[in-house]
Amino acid sequence: MAEGVKTIAAGTPENKYDILIGEHLLDDLGGMLANLRPEGRAALVTDENVWAAHGARCSSSLSRVGLDFEPIPLPPGEGSKSLRELAGLYDAFANIPLSRGGVVIAFGGGVVGDIGGFAAATWMRGVPLVQVPTTLLAQVDSSVGGKTAINIPQGKNLAGAFYQPKLVVIDTKTLETLPEREIKSGMAEVIKYGAISSAGLFESLSGRVEEGSLSGVIRECCRIKSGIVERDERDFGERILLNFGHTFGHAVEKRFGFERYRHGEAVAYGMAMAARVGERMGVTEIGTSDALKRLLSIHGLDTVLPCDPSELLPMLAADKKSAEGGVRMVFLRRIGEAFTRRVEFSELGKLMKDAVTA
Ligand code: NAD
Ligand code: GLY
Repeated sequence: MAEGVKTIAAGTPENKYDILIGEHLLDDLGGMLANLRPEGRAALVTDENVWAAHGARCSSSLSRVGLDFEPIPLPPGEGSKSLRELAGLYDAFANIPLSRGGVVIAFGGGVVGDIGGFAAATWMRGVPLVQVPTTLLAQVDSSVGGKTAINIPQGKNLAGAFYQPKLVVIDTKTLETLPEREIKSGMAEVIKYGAISSAGLFESLSGRVEEGSLSGVIRECCRIKSGIVERDERDFGERILLNFGHTFGHAVEKRFGFERYRHGEAVAYGMAMAARVGERMGVTEIGTSDALKRLLSIHGLDTVLPCDPSELLPMLAADKKSAEGGVRMVFLRRIGEAFTRRVEFSELGKLMKDAVTA
């Protein structure tokens, strides 16, 4: 295996797996998969951009160990997390044919990981899944922890499953072809980990993150996330903290039809708003939102809400965490410490307005 590979032991008490992080791990992917002893042909779910940039290396690594696989490249983008593409995957799995002892390899960003993971969770009631994330966002967040989903017309991620992978392989070199905007989007999630659980990580991000240190940052994020998921896989308690900035963020994404903003860009608006609202409520240390906005702007992320806050209220009311006139949201006590609290919509409208005008 490539030198300098770091391993994080992750998973839940029932489903343990390793997260492997290093450079050029794609070249060893075949050997890693062979260790899982998959039966029959494998399904390799990817997207067209990822396949164009890294397919050849991935193919030759799998072929070297004699692993027979079928690449299934989806059109890039959020639109592929759909029932239509899911049906296409089931067709492809049937044609392979993918057996219960086979393996689904999700090779791409969060879109491929989410739909590929959901297809694996549901094909024959569950076939082994290996996540090979290729965006920063997927490497620090979506490939770890077992949330899989597709979008339906009624809402984002409404059909999904908790389904832990057998292995996560993070080749940090794949990020070299990732567009700058996607790196920034992933940095929003990195900053989130610092904000909710590590003041040290937060501070370390205020300088330029060089390529060498990015691998350490990815490792730290995976360590934080896998610890949280191990303690609360099903999102009943501590895992909700990972949604810091996401309630407002999802509302922003939805307000603009999921097209204008990348997930991390929307989360950046959401985190800034949540910190400011927390300060207005007196639950967040004053100065926290300024520190957060400063760090987000260092990483090229905008924090000035692109619409009137009142336009987000209908989206907030439709949020999964909303019920009976209010929503459970994540707030910061200070940088590195987060908690949840329910806020009534009657109060939230005013708090949001104050947060942008104050
Ligand atoms: P994405 O998967 O759409 O990837 C972004 C773009 O980068 C795409 O155009 C893709 O083709 C391209 N790309 C990917 N890797 C590349 C590479 N190495 N080189 C060049 N181009 C590359 O977007 P994303 O930001 O990775 O993921 C967003 C999705 O993740 C959303 O659907 C969101 O809901 C989901 N998500 C899931 C979780 C979870 O826990 N399951 C957590 C956060 C986000
Ligand atoms: N991205 C939020 C979670 O995995 O719970």
